Amino acid sequence: MQDTITERVIAPARNILGSLRLPGDKSISHRYALLGALAEGKSKFTNFSTGADCASSLACAEQLGARVTRHPDSSVEITGTGGVLQSAGSPLDCGNSGSTMRMLSGLLAPQDCTFTLIGDASLSRRPMERVRKPLSQMGAHIDLTDGHAPVVIHGKKLAGIDYTTPVPSAQVKTALLFAGLQATGTTTVREAVRTRDHGELALRAFGAKVERNLDSVSIEGGQGLTAIEAAVPGDISSAAFFLCAAALFPGSNLVFEGLGLNPTRATLLDVLTALGAHIGVLNLEDKASELIGTVQVNAPANGLTGTTISGGLAAQLIDELPVIAAIAPYTQHGIRIRDAKELRVKESDRIALVAKNLRAMGAEVEEFEDGLDVPGGQHLHGTEIDSGGDHRIAMAFSVAALRATGETVIHGAEAAAISFPEFFDLLDKVAER
Ligand code: S3P
Repeated sequence: MQDTITERVIAPARNILGSLRLPGDKSISHRYALLGALAEGKSKFTNFSTGADCASSLACAEQLGARVTRHPDSSVEITGTGGVLQSAGSPLDCGNSGSTMRMLSGLLAPQDCTFTLIGDASLSRRPMERVRKPLSQMGAHIDLTDGHAPVVIHGKKLAGIDYTTPVPSAQVKTALLFAGLQATGTTTVREAVRTRDHGELALRAFGAKVERNLDSVSIEGGQGLTAIEAAVPGDISSAAFFLCAAALFPGSNLVFEGLGLNPTRATLLDVLTALGAHIGVLNLEDKASELIGTVQVNAPANGLTGTTISGGLAAQLIDELPVIAAIAPYTQHGIRIRDAKELRVKESDRIALVAKNLRAMGAEVEEFEDGLDVPGGQHLHGTEIDSGGDHRIAMAFSVAALRATGETVIHGAEAAAISFPEFFDLLDKVAER
């Protein structure tokens, strides 16, 4: 993340119009960076994520012995280590990135070295026991401090396990598959909700055999990976801010080209459709087993309706919930979110921060341990917003600001660069004022 604290003033918009091609998906870029570092040969990824989080993964890959070249056109070349990662010398800095810390824990636990993973203040508050526990069952030796970073990994030979994740988490699933790839025997991960499957798809793209069933995924140990060339799909979780913004303005028209449409990530399109927005999808293509396509969004003439998001839907929409909640006051009937307790342990406590910022804008909102009730039909006013250093809070409230009365100041706006450094420029491009 940039060190300088910046504020951004967001003026109300009259409409959202235009066409966007977004930087590469953050989740896929992390996995390509880490697997590229382990593989044999030189991988090349175009449209790699421009966010600071994926830069943390690349820096760690480099420190572990991979050769990494970043090009100005957002392509990245990684010459892998052929399976043997080297001792980093100094701690591996995962910055703000939970994905880097958790997935790297799985990648490094079976390597014959000691590694220390550190992160910024926010990452150092996030739970790491969820990854230490199953890796320990595989035989790993990992020390935490009170369940948190620093994560000290004393690399050891691991054996496959059959594990059911207590909380649905793609990061934990991926960490176990990365460890299982290098363990003896079979590693199976079972999950109650199908979380994003980029780990499975990336492993396959790099040549590993991965078996998938309805509620589980298995990998055999002892497989090597071979470098690949791949284009990273546009990040649908970044598109979410613009999709929600466009859905607020009757007469809007926004088109995304080359957008990632992996079914485990595209649930927001179903939610917006259920709220009455018109979503068109065309030009579907397969890129390294990831689905990519063109998406067009138009708002309904009479405004968005309302809905409840709970159960498995909450897990699948976990990164999109802040922006969905931020536009909820502008819907007709409001939005109710439940079973989303995980929001409390993201880069910030996203339930508390969404509630606080909605109230600051004059909205009525009820907070629950695992969600929020946001009534519809409300009018919001511009105010001072606290991002809490959380990228998705900064961007979600920039979207809420577009329909508010008066200007909104986003404090800690620089946090957007964690996943989407281009966010404010692109918002200016598509917002008609
Ligand atoms: C991610 C999984 C999700 C998500 C995060 C990225 C991934 O976290 O919130 O932004 O790339 O696997 P959890 O796995 O903790 O749910």
